Amino acid sequence: MTTSLFQPTQLGPLTLNNRISMAPMTRSRTTQPGDTPNEMMATYYRQRASAGLIVTEGAPISAVGRGYSMTPGIYTEEHIKGWKKVTDAVHEQGGAIFVQLWHVGRRSHSSISGEQPLAPSAIKVPDQVFGPLPEGGFGMIETETPREMTLTDIENTIYDFVKAAKNAIEAGFDGVEIHAAHGYLFDTFMRLESNQREDEYGGSQENRIRFLVETLQAVVNAIGGDKVAVRLSPHVIEGFANEDAEIVEVSLKALKAMEPMNLAYVHFSERISRYVEVPESFRYQVRSVYRNRIMIAGKLTKKSAQHLIDNDYADLVAFGTPFVTNPDLVGRLAEDLPLAEFDADARLTLYGGGEAGYIDYPTYQP
Ligand SMILES: Cc1cc2nc3c(=O)[nH]c(=O)nc-3n(C[C@H](O)[C@H](O)[C@H](O)COP(=O)(O)O)c2cc1C
Repeated sequence: MTTSLFQPTQLGPLTLNNRISMAPMTRSRTTQPGDTPNEMMATYYRQRASAGLIVTEGAPISAVGRGYSMTPGIYTEEHIKGWKKVTDAVHEQGGAIFVQLWHVGRRSHSSISGEQPLAPSAIKVPDQVFGPLPEGGFGMIETETPREMTLTDIENTIYDFVKAAKNAIEAGFDGVEIHAAHGYLFDTFMRLESNQREDEYGGSQENRIRFLVETLQAVVNAIGGDKVAVRLSPHVIEGFANEDAEIVEVSLKALKAMEPMNLAYVHFSERISRYVEVPESFRYQVRSVYRNRIMIAGKLTKKSAQHLIDNDYADLVAFGTPFVTNPDLVGRLAEDLPLAEFDADARLTLYGGGEAGYIDYPTYQP
């Protein structure tokens, strides 16, 4: 019997209305100053609450963890109050919502984060992020060479993740997804190119996953494993100069370490920016070490998503850009209705700005 994308499914204590998630997407529309989530963001997420699970845009867990201007924080009382509007809106519609907890590591600049960015080692690659321009206004700026994290920095960062996770629960989220993908903090600890440490957080593969595993365990201890998820992207080269020969093996080791934590799900981000296609053999390898819930995202269609479910490669699938232009994406996919295209105009209004290109996409009109 095939399991339909459109049937309800259990995620820990949650009953999701379907297996289609909205992937995390940064939209940079907070209220300034303070980077606070607002009513407009609540409307945006409310419109998309027919997704089985919404994963919010990345939410910086601290000022130093911030790499893009105007992204919504989750480290002040105002942030918690702002996010409460969002979670209430989604829950009123019968939806479920996790917040993505984000520390960008070296992909930042002190003009955004307020201090020198942190990383496993003081190594920079050519890279640009969205921040204040010297001539005024915002645009893409080159990142800054990071500072090598001390053991105290690592301890403090784990504390910041735990605090942010507790804030998320206070704000009404159903859980948190820790961002360990796309060249951000944890991804740089896992890869050889960016991690040249000689202490217990660098060197061997076990050492390179230690920071992520310790952080996950601390967050699991604080809020419970069924409220914690993680996003990985071993086949994406975003934020690095080169492919990493060991990252697949390292990710499989991390999965093994996560298995006993009974996480809500592990999310694989595929096919964004520079990437290699995921071989079928990887999907088998994942299932051979990890039996709990898997989510997969990256240029999916109804057909390819159903294929992942049918083959037991994934339990949940996530769509990103189709949700930008189709707030009722799940209904449209279920009924085979035409999708509003994610076109050049849609791209122009992705980051920053107001309601246009954000909350003015209609549901399907016959
Ligand atoms: C505008 C935009 C912002 C994004 N922001 C995030 C983010 O904050 N965190 C993250 O993990 N991925 C982010 N992504 C990646 C998406 O979650 C998703 O993996 C990607 O869009 C591929 O899925 P798609 O082909 O269905 O769009 C973003 C993508 C887009 C288009």
